Amino acid sequence: MSTADYPIVVAPSILASDFGKLHHEVQRAEAAGADWLHLDVMDGHFVDNISFGPAFVEATCRAASVPLDVHLMIERPDHYVPRFLTNADNISVHVEAPHDVKRTLAMIRNGGSHCGLALNPSTALDAVLPFLDQIDLLLVMTVVPGFGGQSFIPEALPKVRAAAEARARLGLTFRIEVDGGINVETGRLAREHGADTMVVGTAAFRAPDMRGFISELRCV
Ligand code: DX5
Ligand code: ZN
Repeated sequence: MSTADYPIVVAPSILASDFGKLHHEVQRAEAAGADWLHLDVMDGHFVDNISFGPAFVEATCRAASVPLDVHLMIERPDHYVPRFLTNADNISVHVEAPHDVKRTLAMIRNGGSHCGLALNPSTALDAVLPFLDQIDLLLVMTVVPGFGGQSFIPEALPKVRAAAEARARLGLTFRIEVDGGINVETGRLAREHGADTMVVGTAAFRAPDMRGFISELRCV
């Protein structure tokens, strides 16, 4: 399988939207062509920011018709996963958090959601290699997690390529998602290195023409 076998999925991150107009923002992203909506859950411990929890994800789910891609940046993903299963199509947990990764991934799958494993820019691909055969999605952070609007870290690109190579070598089919500082230019670089799923916060919600932006990103 080559990148051509993985059409680009664009997942606008609700973190960059106006929470006061959640329903409107969800509809705006969907009308612009969003394939998924990305939801960044932050607990103030694993990352230095607090965003929202299960009730907000449920409210987004009520407004949305596309799949919800939930990214848990929290200390105890194993404890909180059950509270997201009903509304999340994908749940990604961080390999750096203190939990039994294999068990948490199985909990997500057995609960009926697709499971993802996320890794920070400073974490080597080696950390996730033992779990690649157990995931639907590998989430490669291209900024230090915690805040939207940061600059893309190009040093993460070789890891994207290594992940794509490992996937081909092992005959696996998980998606490779990049998250942080993605715009048309950095999205193209990520695509060239093997990414197929683009999380876009600031660049999507602040685009003068969100539909045009998503169309362009889909074709990088
Ligand atoms: C960062 C989050 C990202 C964030 C991306 O911790 O995981 O999903 O919303 O936002 P931008 O695209 O603005 O970097
Ligand atoms: Zn995210």
